[in-house]
Amino acid sequence: MKIETDTTSPLEIKTHCLIVPVFQGEDISGTAAELNGKLNGLIAQVIEDGFKGSVGDTRVLYTQGVLPAQRTILLGIGKREKFDLNKWRKAVSKAARAVRALKKTEASLALPDSDSATADLAGAATEAAILGLHVYNDFKTDEESLNLKPLENLTILTGDDCSNAIARAETIAQANLRARAWVNAPSNTKSPDFLANSARVVAQENELRCEIWDEFQIQAEKMGALYGVGMGSDNAPRFIILEYAPAGTEEDAPIILVGKGMTFDSGGYSLKPSTSMEEMKDDMAGAAVVLATMSALRPLEFEKRVIGIVPSAENMVSGRAQRPGDIVTARNGKTIEVLNTDAEGRLILADALSYASELQPVAILDYATLTGAVRIALGQEAAGIFANEAGQELQGKTIAAGQKTGEPLWPFPMWDEYKEHVKGTISDLKNLGQERGAGSIAGAVFLENFVADSIPWCHLDIAALSLVRDERFLTQRGATGFGVRLTLELLNNM
Ligand code: BES
Ligand code: MN
Ligand code: ZN
Repeated sequence: MKIETDTTSPLEIKTHCLIVPVFQGEDISGTAAELNGKLNGLIAQVIEDGFKGSVGDTRVLYTQGVLPAQRTILLGIGKREKFDLNKWRKAVSKAARAVRALKKTEASLALPDSDSATADLAGAATEAAILGLHVYNDFKTDEESLNLKPLENLTILTGDDCSNAIARAETIAQANLRARAWVNAPSNTKSPDFLANSARVVAQENELRCEIWDEFQIQAEKMGALYGVGMGSDNAPRFIILEYAPAGTEEDAPIILVGKGMTFDSGGYSLKPSTSMEEMKDDMAGAAVVLATMSALRPLEFEKRVIGIVPSAENMVSGRAQRPGDIVTARNGKTIEVLNTDAEGRLILADALSYASELQPVAILDYATLTGAVRIALGQEAAGIFANEAGQELQGKTIAAGQKTGEPLWPFPMWDEYKEHVKGTISDLKNLGQERGAGSIAGAVFLENFVADSIPWCHLDIAALSLVRDERFLTQRGATGFGVRLTLELLNNM
């Protein structure tokens, strides 16, 4: 899709679809008011007949030769006092879909008369159009699914230069789509080795250092927890390291991003029920966030050193798979009783976080589809965020970044009382918390044992948001890429 700006006024632009924003519950203003005059009060009439203008409401009106635009799409953007870039993104995604429904490949977008800066509106519109139109049809073979006629040219009507904002937004949106592609891929097409190869591709494209450890090296490197999870599958585990260090930063303490990379999670011998087990193809969504973020740093000319780490394995059942009750030793020497083979994410992350801590980073963020419990707590409206003492400020900044990108995060406590929940009886730790309750916190306090106290660390439990079954504003059913945009926003502010 080509996205450009044009200084022509909305009333003069020649276009198939002129998208005109309308605030809810107030007298029509701006472009909508001008248009209303030209069309003899048609818009006022449409509003009177029930067009509310709530976020994402659309109505197609034909201009009958009165304007150079063939038709106009009224686009609700909600109440003025609640308007922000998130509302705008939601609305624009709907407008883009409305254009697609009309089978038009070209549209022009008028901007609302709001307090938001024009460049921000243009950037947000760019993201929304790209993300909102994305469809996963890699495995469709019928004509209709393959010929959706997506928008090819979107013209944003403004006299301001927004080229930089648009280019950045395109890069960020493409990174998000990349994460979606990996998460949407079925597990018979993505093994740990596939993730490793994806990392190699990202590294080649962006001149990143890339190191991949196989199962033998994982064992030699004393990553007993990752090795234990991985050994039940014919698809052997991998440990992936990507490093971005722009000139002059090679010796700087890095920011480290760690992503859970289970390419499938059957639960192992603590087998999951078959209902919706297929969703466990998304158990590498954290890895997808990390790899996708790493792919955008060079294009965005990020100035700091960043290391991306992905422990990857497939949790399966076999004669070599680990058993409930097995005890493994993580890289930092702590022993873990594997009371439940389905709590495998914290095991592979234990080794990855230990390794990350050794690199003496300025901060560690990890992304993981760690617990089903986070969905019980927050539904699919926010991901959980957890931080150690040193990471309190980082947590605040991460939440703020998510607010800005429309990827909500909500903080959970990590009090000492919870830390008791994962203390072991015959080992240092057990990979399960209490039988009932605080499942997501148990996962987080377990992970904290593998991060040095002095390092600011945040853990994001994205289990509920990496894959959605219903259509959302910026995502159709399937992978969301949740976390990529907020991470790039956070890094941008760091
Ligand atoms: N990958 C799952 C968590 C998950 C659940 C992700 C639902 C996405 C949707 C994780 O490995 C897991 O199985 N967690 C267990 C932990 C339990 C055994 C302590 C869970 O949530 O049931
Ligand atoms: Mn599991
Ligand atoms: Zn899992």
